Amino acid sequence: MSRRIAVYPGSFDPIHNGHLDLIERCRTLFDEVVVAVLHNEAKKPLFTVDERIETIRELVGDDCRVESFSGLLVDFTDQVGARAVVRGLRAVSDFEYELQMALMNRRLNSRVETVFLMPREDYIYLSSRLVKEVFALGGDLTGLVPEPVLARLRERLRPTAPA
Ligand code: PNS
Repeated sequence: MSRRIAVYPGSFDPIHNGHLDLIERCRTLFDEVVVAVLHNEAKKPLFTVDERIETIRELVGDDCRVESFSGLLVDFTDQVGARAVVRGLRAVSDFEYELQMALMNRRLNSRVETVFLMPREDYIYLSSRLVKEVFALGGDLTGLVPEPVLARLRERLRPTAPA
């Protein structure tokens, strides 16, 4: 029987506990999980793709492959021999954007199915954007991002004291 491979794509700028929770869930469902980090400088990321890949590898070890991709997600999915793309669904507000992407990807490549998974409830409001904002403003991120990510945020961003 062929191995069931899933691609879990995203910007991961930076990875947080909601992403890690989803990776764990993927691993229980698929034989192999490829974490795919989008290469898109237009998004003006805080961390380079190499930094993000290094951090994710440090956190997931040998449990998953971690690679960058550019261009169409469905082409990358084909390249790695995956049939499934996994995306996290947090709030209803995610749904419209995710539905558009899933249906466009299906139109581009009907072999690829999008699978939606819900993260643990504690992480339902968590996003990389909020992680960066809260950190920059000196807020507490305990329990929301792993220590290696906090360390990299400390190197990259200096929290600002309120005026
Ligand atoms: O974590 P993000 O930023 O919400 O992830 C978005 C991502 C990487 C899944 C999405 O931007 C993507 O798949 N980009 C690749 C370009 C592509 O295939 N576009 C057409 C599909 S709608």
